[in-house]
Amino acid sequence: MLNCLGIMANPPLQHLLERLSRRLGPKGFTRDPAELAPWLVDWRKRYRGAAAAMLSPAGTDEVVEIVRLCAEARVPLVPQGGNSSMVAGATPSADGTALLLSMRRMNRIRSISAAGSSAVCEAGVILSNLHEAAAAVGQRFPLSLGAKGSATIGGLISTNAGGTQVLRFGTMRSLVQGLEAVLPDGSLFSSLAPLKKDNRGYDIKQLMIGAEGTLGIVTAANLRLVEAVGSRSVAWIGLASPEKALGLLRLLENATGEAVESFELVPRSAHDLVLHHIAGTRPPLPGPHEWHVLVEATAPMAAPSPEEALGRALMAALENGVIEDAAIASSEAQAEAFWRIRDSISEAEQKDGPAAKHDISVEIAAMPGFMVEAAAAVEGRFPGARVIAFGHLGDGNVHFNVRAPGDAPRWLEEQAPQVTSFVHDLVMAVGGSISAEHGIGQMRLSELARVGDPARLGAMRAIKRALDPHGIMNPGKLVPPAGMAAPPPLRPGNGAASSSQENGG
Ligand code: MLT
Ligand code: ZN
Repeated sequence: MLNCLGIMANPPLQHLLERLSRRLGPKGFTRDPAELAPWLVDWRKRYRGAAAAMLSPAGTDEVVEIVRLCAEARVPLVPQGGNSSMVAGATPSADGTALLLSMRRMNRIRSISAAGSSAVCEAGVILSNLHEAAAAVGQRFPLSLGAKGSATIGGLISTNAGGTQVLRFGTMRSLVQGLEAVLPDGSLFSSLAPLKKDNRGYDIKQLMIGAEGTLGIVTAANLRLVEAVGSRSVAWIGLASPEKALGLLRLLENATGEAVESFELVPRSAHDLVLHHIAGTRPPLPGPHEWHVLVEATAPMAAPSPEEALGRALMAALENGVIEDAAIASSEAQAEAFWRIRDSISEAEQKDGPAAKHDISVEIAAMPGFMVEAAAAVEGRFPGARVIAFGHLGDGNVHFNVRAPGDAPRWLEEQAPQVTSFVHDLVMAVGGSISAEHGIGQMRLSELARVGDPARLGAMRAIKRALDPHGIMNPGKLVPPAGMAAPPPLRPGNGAASSSQENGG
C-alpha cells in the first residue's frame, strides 16, 4: 500500500514503471504483491524489503534497456538470483525505493563444449542444472554447495562463491573464464572469450566477480569445466584436534597428489546436533571423537580409484597417532550419508536454537590454533555460550558460530552484536577476514565499516563512485558509506545492543 502511495506521489517513477511494463510485457514485469512477496525476504528470514515492481528480463538486451532507463530516472536496482544469500545481499531496503531485478528467466546454457571444457551460461542458470548439463557431455563444473538447487550462476559469480571443492579448484574467481555484464550506465561489457592470457589493463571481469551487483549486472559467463569424476572415495575420520586434522590433510595430499578435493572439519558438537535433529542420520563411527573430518578423493575416468591410496594413507595416519578411527564409505549410498551429515549442520543448528554466525578465514597454518584459542576466549567472555566451529579447514575458512546459552531468551538481542564484534576483533588481530565466502551484503556492512582497512574501504568507495556515480546498483550492500556508524564498543555488562541481525537463529 505504501508503495502505491509512493508511486502516485512520484510521477517520474510512475512513468518509468509504465515504460518498463510496456518493454518487458507481463512475463517480465509484475507489481503483484503476492508474486513479489517471497523475493522480498532474505533466505535466513531476517531482512524484509519492499519494491515497487519486480523486473524479469528474458535476455541481455532487456537488461541493457532496464539499466539505461533506471540510470536516467536514478531509480536503484537490486539484482537477485536464487535469493540464497547468507548475508541478505539480494534483499531490497524496506523503503521501497529500489526495483527488484530477477535474473531467473535468463536461464539458458548458451553453449557447452567438452572439447573446450567450457560452458557459456546465462546468469539465471541454476547450479544443479549446470551440473547435469556438464555431466551429459562427460564433464563437470567443480563447484558445489548446499543451495545448489536454487543458487544461480549470476549470484555465485556476484558473491565469488566457495563451497566444498575450493581446496582443489578454487572459488568462482578461478572458474570464470569470460564474462558479460551490463555496467551502471547501461553499456555492455562483453568479454565471454575464454582467454588464458589477456593484458589489456584492469581486469574488469574480476572486478565484477564478488561485487555483489554493486558495479553492474552479470548477465552471462563462460565457465571452466573439468573432466567428469571416474570414481570417488569418501571417508569419515575421528581425531583429537583441529591441529591433527591439518596434519592429516598434509599427509593425504602427499599420499594422493591432487586427489583430495574436499576436506571438511566437523566438531563433536555439530556431529551430535545433526544426529539429534536430522531424521535418518547415523553416526559413521562407533566411538565418540572430539573432532571429525569428511574427506572426498576423486580420480578421472581412466585412472584407478583413489580408494586404495586413501586407505593406505589413513592406515599410516592411524599407526602414527594422527587419527583415532576412520571409515571409508563402501557404497555410493554410504558416501551420500556421510555428506548428508556435513551438509545438514546449518539446518541442525537452526533447529537447535539461536546462534551468532560468522564466516571467517585466517592463514591456513594458523587456523587450528586460532579455533582453540578463540573458542576459549569467547566462552570465557560470554559465560554459557558455546562455540560450534566447522567447515572448510583446508581453505582456512570455518563457520565460527556461537550458540546462545539455553536459558537466556534475550541473549541474541542483547549479546549477539557484541559476540560478533569480539569474534571479528580476534580474527582481525591475526590478519584474517570477517567474510571468507558469504560476502558482506547488508548483514556484515557495519562490521566491515568498523574493522575494514581504511585503504581498502577508500579504494572500494572510489571504484563504486567511478562506475556507479548515481548509486543505482544494489545500494546499501557491500560498500560501507563513509562515516557509517559503528556498533557500540564492547564493555563489560553492556547489554544495550539493539539489533539481532547477526542472529542466524
Ligand atoms: C556451509 O559451509 O555449510 C555453509 O557455508 C555454512 C552456513 O550455512 O553458514
Ligand atoms: Zn561454508
